Amino acid sequence: MKPQPRAGPGDLVALSPRAARSSLAKLIPYAVGVWPLLASALVCILASSLLELSVPWVMGFLLLDTVVKQARLDELPRVVFLLVAIFLGQKGVGFLQDYFQELANQRLVHRLRCDLFHHLQCLPVRFFDRGRTGELTARVTSDIDSVEGFLPTLVDDVVTDAVLLLGTLYFLFRVQPRLTLYVAPTVLVLAFALILFRPRVKRFARRVRAMIGDLAAMASETLAGVRVVKGFLGEDYEVRRFAAQSLQVLRARVGVVTLRSLCYATVDLGVLLGTIIVVSVAAPKVVAGTFSVGALVAYLGYLGKLYGPAKRLSKVNVSIQKTLAAADRIFEVMDLPPEETARVAAAPVLRPAFPAGVSPQSAPGVLFEQVTFSYGGGRPALKDFTLDVAPGEAVALVGRSGAGKTTVVNLLLRFYAPDSGRILLDGVPLDQIPLGELRGQIGLVSQDVFLFSGTIRDNIAYALPTATDEDVVEAARRANAHGFISALPQGYASSAGERGVQLSGGQRQRIAIARAWLRRPRLLILDEATSHLDSESEHYVQEAFDRVAQGRTVFLIAHRLSTLWNADKIVVIENGTIVQAGRHEELLQSAGIYRRLYRLQQRPGPQSRTAEER
Ligand SMILES: Nc1ncnc2c1ncn2[C@@H]1O[C@H](COP(=O)(O)OP(=O)(O)OP(=O)(O)O)[C@@H](O)[C@H]1O
Ligand SMILES: [Mg+2]
Repeated sequence: MKPQPRAGPGDLVALSPRAARSSLAKLIPYAVGVWPLLASALVCILASSLLELSVPWVMGFLLLDTVVKQARLDELPRVVFLLVAIFLGQKGVGFLQDYFQELANQRLVHRLRCDLFHHLQCLPVRFFDRGRTGELTARVTSDIDSVEGFLPTLVDDVVTDAVLLLGTLYFLFRVQPRLTLYVAPTVLVLAFALILFRPRVKRFARRVRAMIGDLAAMASETLAGVRVVKGFLGEDYEVRRFAAQSLQVLRARVGVVTLRSLCYATVDLGVLLGTIIVVSVAAPKVVAGTFSVGALVAYLGYLGKLYGPAKRLSKVNVSIQKTLAAADRIFEVMDLPPEETARVAAAPVLRPAFPAGVSPQSAPGVLFEQVTFSYGGGRPALKDFTLDVAPGEAVALVGRSGAGKTTVVNLLLRFYAPDSGRILLDGVPLDQIPLGELRGQIGLVSQDVFLFSGTIRDNIAYALPTATDEDVVEAARRANAHGFISALPQGYASSAGERGVQLSGGQRQRIAIARAWLRRPRLLILDEATSHLDSESEHYVQEAFDRVAQGRTVFLIAHRLSTLWNADKIVVIENGTIVQAGRHEELLQSAGIYRRLYRLQQRPGPQSRTAEER
């Protein structure tokens, strides 16, 4: 229950080769992908802005200067009609704009979300060793949600306001060019606020996002390990840990808002300044009669319209920085190289996986040639590992916990690449076989069986989605699983639950064997976690495996040595190297670690295995 040393906020940065291109530049292609919708929205924006800009003109010059000042009441219906028409036109165009814009937005987000998920699926196993699935989930969900604000901000605030701003400036100059020069100081204040606050807001926003990711990671980890938490009475500890993290989110969020308010206040101050200057200069002109009342009203109307967009434009900065902070975290992951390209680059020549003379149905030979590998610097998990497995041979890997047995399998499936040496399948180096082709011919029953939420049938058919119900049942029969599955209230339609909680270890392993067999792999791997199983379950698993292993090349990792007597070759691994190899009887005859392990296990008593294996 002790907490893992946690990585700091946004720690993925250290992993990724930080691309020079900014997140904004990477978002552009996504926006371009929905350009017809965006163009339609833009047309609506132009129309709507024009309509909006005509209001002060109608009010100032038509209503005040014509109808009121020249007492021409006959013009009034025209003014009213114009105002109503402008209003209706604006609403209609606004509706269309919202529709196009939101459709474009959701399509963009959908594409980005799917691309990110696709990329995550393509990343090498090494990436997931850090085990921060909760944090990654936050990137797929909440960070993507934040990007949802990108297009609306861009279209609504940036484009609309830029159009309004330019239009307003045009009208301001038409009404009174000299007066307009007095607006200039405001623009300076706005620019200043932008330059001052921009980097700070982004830094804060990024921190908030990272903290939310950590919070999600913590929640998902604690919930996944709920049995450990409860078993060790860790509820209070977890609640306190969560609250502490949540408190940090609170502080960071308040920090962002404080910064934002400061930024807005600065902007508003600039606006006030500009208005005071204009009013002070214009009022005496109206009194002196050099400026009509209608012109002043129109002018102040336009001034209001100038400040509105200008203020919003400067505030846009905050929301764009927030969006970019989220986009940074998304593209950080998307910039990591996927596993296939990473490997293929090293081996440009692709040769067929099945050289002439070996049919795909026949079992493959496997050769490990002086393979050395370490997970992350440090002590190698495999050292100078050389192993020749003939087609159809069943080889058993044994050794203490941590000896490197699972590592052999990890390399064979190319979850990792060796640091030196090479591995050949049917004489072809693994890195010259396309990943899909390699993994497609290997059936893996891993040490910790993972069952997806969904029915048991779906979990077996995961290996071969086209499998019929009969295929699934046959696979289950072979794997000694049909009996207990049929006995379940809903049979094959029973839910395996999240991570298959309501099945025993042995039952889950047999489902995994059925799943592996369904694809009729040429090479079968069973990484047995026998230490979890009682003798009876172990017997069922063993029997199932013996049956499905027929006619295949087999890697069997077993803890209970008594089950290995029929393996063609037993390989004893110690600290990543092979210390003994041979058949059961041969190994028993020579003094060595195998005989010692075997005798220990033969000895009756509950502590017989744990003493040697833990
Ligand atoms: N993902 C990983 N990242 C870093 N080190 C790892 C990783 N997986 C295994 N190791 C280390 O590599 C060594 C070999 O591990 P491996 O899983 O191959 O042992 P094993 O023989 O399968 O043990 P067990 O019988 O307990 O399953 C161990 O020292 C382990 O700590
Ligand atoms: Mg293992």
